[in-house]
Amino acid sequence: MSVPILDVVDLHAAYGRIEVLRGVDLSVPKGAVMALLGPNGAGKSTLVKVISGQKEATSGDIHLAGVHVRNAKSDDLARVGLCTVPEGRSVFPNLTVEENLRLMSYAGVPTAAILETAYSYFPRLHERRNQLAGTMSGGEQQMLAMSRALASDPALLLLDELSMGLAPLIVEELYDTVARIAESGVSILCIEQFARTALRVSDYAAVMSGGRIVATGEPGEILDTMADVILGGAA
Ligand SMILES: Nc1ncnc2c1ncn2[C@@H]1O[C@H](COP(=O)(O)OP(=O)(O)O)[C@@H](O)[C@H]1O
Ligand SMILES: [Mg+2]
Repeated sequence: MSVPILDVVDLHAAYGRIEVLRGVDLSVPKGAVMALLGPNGAGKSTLVKVISGQKEATSGDIHLAGVHVRNAKSDDLARVGLCTVPEGRSVFPNLTVEENLRLMSYAGVPTAAILETAYSYFPRLHERRNQLAGTMSGGEQQMLAMSRALASDPALLLLDELSMGLAPLIVEELYDTVARIAESGVSILCIEQFARTALRVSDYAAVMSGGRIVATGEPGEILDTMADVILGGAA
């Protein structure tokens, strides 16, 4: 077994005195797509924030490609190859599509390469390259957020609820692209309420509940054994 791209060990985190991550253990193999499922309030977004350096852990360890990164800063994490699309849409609404993408060249990847990657995955962004990001549909904004994340040529992409507020058809389209991104060699951890959709493109799945990982396995296995937990509401 090679070193996992992400290895989280007994991770704890709290808001004030309320512990929200209560000993998270999670390992994502290099090159894999893993779906992280579970009910609202399970702690999934908090886990994303701690992994991506936006919130401090109280204890535990995080390794990215074997490098210890707990409480590392976002810049250092980017250098190790981590990129995050946080919950909600992380685009600048008053800038055009192309301006949003050009801003990402600070990380060292040439602008031309950033634009080419974005427009090849999402031809629609090319059509709309001069449009203000805030005037696009939710799905198009999410395409832009994903393109911005891809601009740093990540080894591991963390996606927190790509589907939020989007129509099912658009969600399917976004996940088709997630699968194509994975084929290019990027490892992906995707948090998702649309469990069936995420499982369709995943190699593995993990289920989080009450601040812990309560099951991991192959998608079919998780769908069979954890349906009540992961299909509550959205399918
Ligand atoms: N900024 C915050 N301050 C206090 N409590 C929070 C904050 N963000 C999340 N929580 C609480 O932490 C728990 C986990 O939330 P979250 O990580 O967003 O779960 P999920 O993404 O699985 O829905 C919930 O009980 C939520 O109310
Ligand atoms: Mg969340």
